[in-house]
Amino acid sequence: MKNIVVLVSGGGTNLQALIDAQENGIIKNGRITCVISSKHDVYALERAKNHNIKSKVIARKDFNDSVEYSRAILEALNEEKADLVVYAGFMTILDELVVKAYPNKMMNVHPALIPSFCGKGYYGLRVHEEAIAKGVKITGATVHFVTEVCDGGPIILQKAVELNDDDTPEVLQKRVMEQAEWKILPQAVSLFCDDRLEVRDGRVFIKN
Ligand code: GAR
Repeated sequence: MKNIVVLVSGGGTNLQALIDAQENGIIKNGRITCVISSKHDVYALERAKNHNIKSKVIARKDFNDSVEYSRAILEALNEEKADLVVYAGFMTILDELVVKAYPNKMMNVHPALIPSFCGKGYYGLRVHEEAIAKGVKITGATVHFVTEVCDGGPIILQKAVELNDDDTPEVLQKRVMEQAEWKILPQAVSLFCDDRLEVRDGRVFIKN
């Protein structure tokens, strides 16, 4: 059974999708052992509490710089003996010292089809604002392994979502979450826990 640590910063709907997948038996070979939030008083912490999952707040604002903050996160991950670390709406970029300690063991869900609308500055609603402004007809979500390049790691799963002419960023965000993120994130976690993901030459292959 793999220890899954989920990193959050906000509402935690992706965390909820993981909790539901665990409770419904979609994730069989892993357990969420700890939720770590980069902010105090976010709803994701309530979700953990409601399901008796341990949580910790390691607030970004309590640290001077990214390296100091990343060291604190790394210490917590080591303490939890994390086998998999999931960024579920985690809005802080960590120093590469964390990624180097957990190579191909950290995954992130991004609300667009990478390599579109990704990289530094593209997070949350901003991603959907840009997709609408550009007039793309299709967007979606991506789950990828985290590397030192922001949103640049090997892609595990993607799912496309169509835009409507009258979409607002909020409406589009909700559709992308419902139709893509909440589906592919639990799926990717399940594949990882079943040892079915193999990374070769920067690409992810799913083993049968
Ligand atoms: C989600 O749409 C997630 O993909 C996005 O923030 C939202 C968090 O929602 N993450 C990023 O933009 C990271 N670059 P949640 O807290 O309800 O899961």
